[in-house]
Amino acid sequence: MSSLNKKSIEDIDVSNKRVLARCDFNVPLKDGVITNDKRIVAALPTIKYLIEHGAKLILCSHLGRPKEGWEPEFSLAPVAKRLSELLGKEVVMAKDVIGEDAKAKASALKAGDVMLLENVRYHKEEKKNDPAFAKELASLAEIYVNDAFGAAHRAHASTAGVADHLPAVCGYLMQKEIDFIGGTIENPKRPFVAILGGAKVSDKIGVIENLIDKVDTLIIGGGMAYTFMRAIGNTTGSSICEEDKLDLARDLMDKARAKNVNFLIPVDNIVAREYKEDSVFMRIYSDAIPDGWMGLDIGPTTQELFAKTIKGAGTVIWNGPMGVSEWENFAAGTRSVAQAIADEEGAVSVIGGGDSVAAVTKLGFADKMSHISTGGGASLEFMEGKKLPGIECLMDK
Ligand code: 3PG
Repeated sequence: MSSLNKKSIEDIDVSNKRVLARCDFNVPLKDGVITNDKRIVAALPTIKYLIEHGAKLILCSHLGRPKEGWEPEFSLAPVAKRLSELLGKEVVMAKDVIGEDAKAKASALKAGDVMLLENVRYHKEEKKNDPAFAKELASLAEIYVNDAFGAAHRAHASTAGVADHLPAVCGYLMQKEIDFIGGTIENPKRPFVAILGGAKVSDKIGVIENLIDKVDTLIIGGGMAYTFMRAIGNTTGSSICEEDKLDLARDLMDKARAKNVNFLIPVDNIVAREYKEDSVFMRIYSDAIPDGWMGLDIGPTTQELFAKTIKGAGTVIWNGPMGVSEWENFAAGTRSVAQAIADEEGAVSVIGGGDSVAAVTKLGFADKMSHISTGGGASLEFMEGKKLPGIECLMDK
């Protein structure tokens, strides 16, 4: 599907080999308990394949952002426990990353055994992609598998540096993200509709610029829509607006026009007096937002317009909410877009970004989407067309 043709675990003989598999086990924890294990579950196909094919499996990951080296609340021990429950087999937890305990446990592995190293970010060398640290980490294994798409935008020792020392291939999750995000953008089934939302234009400039050359329709919602509205001469009251991005917004709209891209911004809005969950609110057309009111969601006519545009799409990519979706009064727009995509069963649908993923999951539509990305920053950078170090470092087919 994608021109990023990287070798995968199926292209290399793993049996009886020590395999270092980098996963993104950066899961949310509360009082030492994992509150969402979806990243662990997403890594299971790769882990199971490696076990079934007789690898001696050494898993590694970061967790959070420890500053001072060893901080107990960033230990991966809860992940080893959860993984062991999911696999129905022991996952041996190492006490360190490249220390004596990790080395001893790695060399004691038998085919099909699984161990997990401690948080790679306990070493400050990890984030610096320190060559000596990368070499030491690589020396634990004979093959490197990168399945950590969520961290693929980081050029760290465990996400890229180790690949200088070992044959490096991708796992199933990484492969799926490459195919669905990279492949879809490069080779979309048409019409290709991209829906972008979120608070700021500045966060999405790269994505808009990359997609404008590729899509048939670009739908803009969320807080960033108000910068575009202002750019075409509307008043936007106290809505979020990036004054220094008005020229850029005009340029992007001109570019879309020149390329015959259908560029849609909201025609009506739900505006509120204050940025508050229980603020008074009303519906208003985009050319009439009064002073003192701020847009916090797209309005019903816009919902219909966007849904009609999504209908019949061959490919839909969605990143970013249409409003303040965590507040019920301003969640309808995001919900309606999720519904419209879910209804389009013939379309390839790719969802990225925390709030859009949360909306789709909460509504029970996850199964109706072709792909829900496990990456936040990584999926955004991938949609920008950037080369991700965690993918670039892998062997080509
Ligand atoms: C994520 O949660 O987006 C990834 O695990 C990357 O984490 P980081 O932003 O701390 O590098």
